[in-house]
Amino acid sequence: MARLRASTVILLLPFLSTLTRGQPSPDQQKRIAAAIKAAANQTNPDYTAFVNPFIGTDNFGDVCPGASIPFGMAKFSTDLTGYAPAGYVTDPTQKIRGISPLHDSGTGSSLGTYGNFEIMPLLCPGGFTTCTTTLDARERLRKRNTDDASPGYFSQTLNNDIKIEATATRRAGLERFTFPTGSKPYFVLDLANDLPNSFAGGTLDIDPVKGRVKIGGRYGSSFGPGRFNYQAFACYDLLDGGKQKLSEYGVWTGDTFGLDAKGLGQTHLNLTLNLIGGVYQSGALFSYDGQPTVVNIRVGVSFKSADQACANAESEVGSSSFEDILTKAKALWQEKLSKVEIDVAGTPPNVTEMLYSSLYRASLTPNNATGEEQGVFEGTSSFYFDSLYCSWDTFRTFYPLLALHSPVEFAQIVDSYIDGWRKNGWMPECRANNLPGWTQGGSSADNIVSHFAVNYHNEAGRLGINLDDLYGALLADGELNPPEWNIQGRQVNVYKQFGYVPFAVLDVSSTGRQTREGSRTLEYAFEDFGIRQVAQLLGKADDVEKYTNRSLFYRNVWDPSVVSDGFKGFSQKRFSNGTFAFNNPVDCSPNDKNDTRACSLQGSNENGFYESSSWEYSWFAPHDTAHLIELMGGNATFVKRLDHFFDAGYYLAGNEPSFQTPIGYHYANHPAQSVDRVREVVFTNFDITPAGLPGNDDQAAMASLLSFHLLGLYPVPSTTQFLILSPFTPKYTIHNSFLNVSTTITTLNYDAKSVQKTIPPGTAAYVQNVTINGQPSASRCHFDFYDVFRVGGEVVITLTADKTAADDCQNNLPESISTGGFAKAR
Ligand SMILES: *[C@@H]1O[C@H](CO)[C@@H](O)[C@H](O)[C@H]1NC(C)=O
Ligand SMILES: *[C@@H]1O[C@H](CO)[C@@H](O)[C@H](O)[C@H]1NC(C)=O
Ligand SMILES: *[C@@H]1O[C@H](CO)[C@@H](O)[C@H](O)[C@H]1NC(C)=O
Ligand SMILES: *[C@@H]1O[C@H](CO)[C@@H](O)[C@H](O)[C@H]1NC(C)=O
Ligand SMILES: *[C@@H]1O[C@H](CO)[C@@H](O)[C@H](O)[C@H]1NC(C)=O
Ligand SMILES: *[C@@H]1O[C@H](CO)[C@@H](O)[C@H](O)[C@H]1NC(C)=O
Ligand SMILES: *[C@@H]1O[C@H](CO)[C@@H](O)[C@H](O)[C@H]1NC(C)=O
Ligand SMILES: *[C@@H]1O[C@H](CO)[C@@H](O)[C@H](O)[C@H]1NC(C)=O
Ligand SMILES: *[C@@H]1O[C@H](CO)[C@@H](O)[C@H](O)[C@H]1NC(C)=O
Ligand SMILES: *[C@@H]1O[C@H](CO)[C@@H](O)[C@H](O)[C@H]1NC(C)=O
Repeated sequence: MARLRASTVILLLPFLSTLTRGQPSPDQQKRIAAAIKAAANQTNPDYTAFVNPFIGTDNFGDVCPGASIPFGMAKFSTDLTGYAPAGYVTDPTQKIRGISPLHDSGTGSSLGTYGNFEIMPLLCPGGFTTCTTTLDARERLRKRNTDDASPGYFSQTLNNDIKIEATATRRAGLERFTFPTGSKPYFVLDLANDLPNSFAGGTLDIDPVKGRVKIGGRYGSSFGPGRFNYQAFACYDLLDGGKQKLSEYGVWTGDTFGLDAKGLGQTHLNLTLNLIGGVYQSGALFSYDGQPTVVNIRVGVSFKSADQACANAESEVGSSSFEDILTKAKALWQEKLSKVEIDVAGTPPNVTEMLYSSLYRASLTPNNATGEEQGVFEGTSSFYFDSLYCSWDTFRTFYPLLALHSPVEFAQIVDSYIDGWRKNGWMPECRANNLPGWTQGGSSADNIVSHFAVNYHNEAGRLGINLDDLYGALLADGELNPPEWNIQGRQVNVYKQFGYVPFAVLDVSSTGRQTREGSRTLEYAFEDFGIRQVAQLLGKADDVEKYTNRSLFYRNVWDPSVVSDGFKGFSQKRFSNGTFAFNNPVDCSPNDKNDTRACSLQGSNENGFYESSSWEYSWFAPHDTAHLIELMGGNATFVKRLDHFFDAGYYLAGNEPSFQTPIGYHYANHPAQSVDRVREVVFTNFDITPAGLPGNDDQAAMASLLSFHLLGLYPVPSTTQFLILSPFTPKYTIHNSFLNVSTTITTLNYDAKSVQKTIPPGTAAYVQNVTINGQPSASRCHFDFYDVFRVGGEVVITLTADKTAADDCQNNLPESISTGGFAKAR
């Protein structure tokens, strides 16, 4: 899911963060800067030291900086008051209510999710009965300048000097609490709170002899129908293998109206959903003997049972020390991050930090819950990933980046998508909290699995993917009308009948919110292109023709008569009788003066587009931009219109439909202008601060987009084509350890002076020519996975300061269907 409209958010939530500084610790940034500097002369740098997990923890980035391994199901982070969907925010005026083991990163449900099983260290000078157990009573500010994080590690210090630290495995982790000397450590553990107040019943059991608390319950989805529940469990081991001794223990319940009850010595809670509404707070409370300054707590999590949560902690952590687990987590991150190596000495330090922080987040999610399936997925033999929200966000750049260097992980996630078709009939569009989430575009999974297929069909079998199953899943999405397309994919019956999704259409066999007809048509058409690509690969000629035709349905919502700001022709929603239903293309753009207009999933979104204006979505036909250029009136008008799109402020860096617009100039034969635009976009919207993302990271959609921008590439989803731009680094290597190949891209004539918002005139920054393993590339505007990253070797991009000479694809434009592009599978 993308942004809420900025105006709506700001109305609801006063911006406090920019008024006060104080988190994270300034030492953290100093440490990163020093590591980057020192790495200039190292051959095998510690890439984890370049990562700033706090990027995107302010300005609604919704990034979770918690301790995690790559694709970890456990993400240990504190949960703060205020707007904090991923638990943590930098804003030092917000208070901590505890640290909890499950989180999502970069997902924008405003109430948040996965704050389940929070634990909060307390000092209770008045003893057990005086402990502050309820959410409001226990919340506490942090000590200034103390928040710290690095891959696999997370730490905060409360203003009462209790330090909280965490490190993680896939489904478990260790928490270390350091108390002021001479204090008796108390802890409150929370059963009901999950952040969005969706507790639907659960139990808690304390085994005082084992020093173990088993806890679990049912909770609601953060981005899907409220009537569905998921289950989650945790296992807290309190004794550090016998080195610690419990003092008091018991349970508590509470509310905000005076209920604050504690049962010393009681060990069991069993509470159901509070049908009258509101959440009955509850949990455990315990303390330790002997005033230890350090308390170590082991935590396991599971989506199956509390016993499995305990087993996960035993098998993944066992009796390992905090340092052991942290070292292992760091090694896993180093392995991931070193798949992309750069010339650190020659690269501006901010670029290095942005790149590795982005690559880090691009392997942080989705959450690997293999072996932890529930509902229809229970016991599946496939891999299983939770938090696939949403495919509409991730198909454009996230999976293409994964495809470059991590086909094994990509294949596992594709397996999980295909399994969604096996178990539910359609591939998941959005999976949140192990539950179906709201559909955004249609079945964007089609573009994800087709991207896998076209890039890795030769290796599919060895990667565990059956291409016939993959194709079966695609055909189900493309042909079978689901009863509830709002969670299952596409309203495909009316789309097939009319060639677009009509507004106000009679649909007698499926339901969903009858909005977003324009953007749904555009996305369905591109999804059909994904199906077409796999049909071509598998030699299904009839399907190729059918889905090629359907991929051109984007044209059916093009209203050539609409004029806005002097530009003619815009996508519009359309009645079933063919008449267009006019909406001002400016509506729902940043230039829309009406800041109460509904633009997202609301029933009152009348605009015809999802989280976008027609100004923004009318660019969307990534497989057929050549024809779009014709519709818009030719190359010159197209370029003028793109310039206007940016200069007049219609572009939204943080919104997925805008992702490919900065490189749009390539298609109109002006590649140098794409280079200028990407520089501007990067330095206007991204930096190394917590506010350094243009909004919600969207499950690292933003992180992967930025990675491509910095590497000077742009992927066309569901194809093997990359557009070539100007790298922000003089040299980088991409390792693909499955294919056993490495590809080094050298940027000849690279000038660090060009790496800023506006390239100074006379600076080499524009692509003059490209060679691939010594041979001139057929085009300096694009190349193909099969010629480059599939075979590995050396690519040389020679830059020139002569922008005019470079601003031309020399009769070899990136491909489009209508000009004969994508004519055969590689
Ligand atoms: C790296 O090595 C070069 C040449 O040996 C030296 O001039 C430079 O100061 C070194 N840089 C760092 C950061 O150590
Ligand atoms: C919780 O209580 C319900 C009835 O209210 C009972 O069915 C269930 O078995 C109990 N669960 C546990 C774990 O005690
Ligand atoms: C997910 O977990 C399974 C089970 O441990 C493992 O085999 C697989 O490699 C993991 N995949 C990723 C991408 O983390
Ligand atoms: C595809 O479109 C072409 C041109 O409009 C048409 O001739 C052909 O019959 C269509 N094919 C299918 C399978 O719909
Ligand atoms: C098509 O339907 C719409 C909505 O009912 C109506 O406003 C419009 O006039 C109709 N167009 C034609 C050509 O009948
Ligand atoms: C803003 O949009 C809303 C929803 O479409 C509409 O009800 C309202 O009248 C509009 N306000 C103005 C000032 O146009
Ligand atoms: C745009 O320019 C390209 C390259 O010069 C040319 O092939 C194409 O026909 C032009 N498109 C239009 C619609 O004029
Ligand atoms: C690096 O980023 C920081 C934080 O955004 C900024 O203050 C600084 O100017 C940047 N440095 C360069 C050289 O761009
Ligand atoms: C890559 O190398 C490994 C180890 O040498 C080998 O097992 C594997 O088959 C190779 N993969 C490919 C795609 O060649
Ligand atoms: C690329 O451009 C450079 C600089 O003009 C030139 O020396 C080189 O021969 C060119 N290479 C190719 C393959 O055209």
